[in-house]
Amino acid sequence: MPILRSVLIGLSRNRTLRHFMESSRAGSRLSSRFVAGMELEDALRVAETLNQQDIAVTLDSLGESVTSEEEAHQAAEIYHRVLNAIAERKLKANISVKLSQMGMEISRELAENLAGSLAEHAHATDNFVRIDMEDSSLTQATLDIVHRLHARPDLREAIGVVIQAALHRSKSDIEQLLAEGIRVRLCKGAYLEPATVAFTHKADVDKNFIRLSGMLLDSPIYHGLATHDEKMIAAVQTYALQHRIDPSRFEFQMLHGIRRDLQRRLVSEGYNVRVYVPFGRAWYPYFMRRLAERPANVLFIARNFFRS
Ligand code: FDA
Repeated sequence: MPILRSVLIGLSRNRTLRHFMESSRAGSRLSSRFVAGMELEDALRVAETLNQQDIAVTLDSLGESVTSEEEAHQAAEIYHRVLNAIAERKLKANISVKLSQMGMEISRELAENLAGSLAEHAHATDNFVRIDMEDSSLTQATLDIVHRLHARPDLREAIGVVIQAALHRSKSDIEQLLAEGIRVRLCKGAYLEPATVAFTHKADVDKNFIRLSGMLLDSPIYHGLATHDEKMIAAVQTYALQHRIDPSRFEFQMLHGIRRDLQRRLVSEGYNVRVYVPFGRAWYPYFMRRLAERPANVLFIARNFFRS
């Protein structure tokens, strides 16, 4: 299966296939397995339904690795509309943003300015921006921007970041983030990384996830533990129980369309749960990473694609 994972992640970066898939009707239909819809309104509807089930949301306007300043500004503009909609509808929701979508691969300054303006907007509406983590070529630049924005007194409560258990560097990154009081979402990591920077065996990633989650839970900061892995979830629950950490002090996070049963079960057990709800037309790379996480999903795709 690791080979299929590599192939799928490789295909997630293929521009021709991306264009074909994102512009075909069959492709858009397939995307609904993991994507709330093409429009903001679709995502808001899903968010409302989840909120009614006591599940918080983080909204992701899909897109990454933009190639022009104009695209980056347009992407940021959509997020401003999302923040306005969350405030108007009083949703229990925040936003998740990728810095490559804010133009980081064109200009770091551009990405910092656009992310900064989103964090200012979030601060003004009592909300929060989570900066997603992309592949390891962007880790340091992403963390530098988050550290700088968070150092602004007005943005302290408005910005946090994601750390991937797959990377060797994550323990030291978490130590620095905790020292500054920055909120972390811990996940395993969705990108294919070389052994020089990442654990390549699942068992090692899992072990690191458990170790890092303990560090987060020990801190007084509100963090997110993002996983659908029941073993990781049980380890977090056990650690919290043993160390008398109240469930109100952290949240579990999962992706839209994955393990809804588990999301509901955790809510019924009194845990905070947040679901990541992506929407928009640039769905292909996100969708392919979801296939890569569970190659059995490919069978589902094949069956549905050729049915059209
Ligand atoms: P694992 O992959 O071991 O899966 C455990 C079980 O979960 C599987 O057996 C299956 O039942 C279910 N499952 C997992 N993925 C599935 C899928 N795609 N389809 C169907 N079932 C699936 N990554 C990153 O690099 N940067 C980021 O910013 C984020 N952000 C993020 C936010 C949130 C809220 C979540 C939940 C995840 C991320 N990720 C991410 C993705 C993360 O790194 C990871 O790739 C996935 O969560 C899958 O890993 P699990 O922890 O679920 O475990």
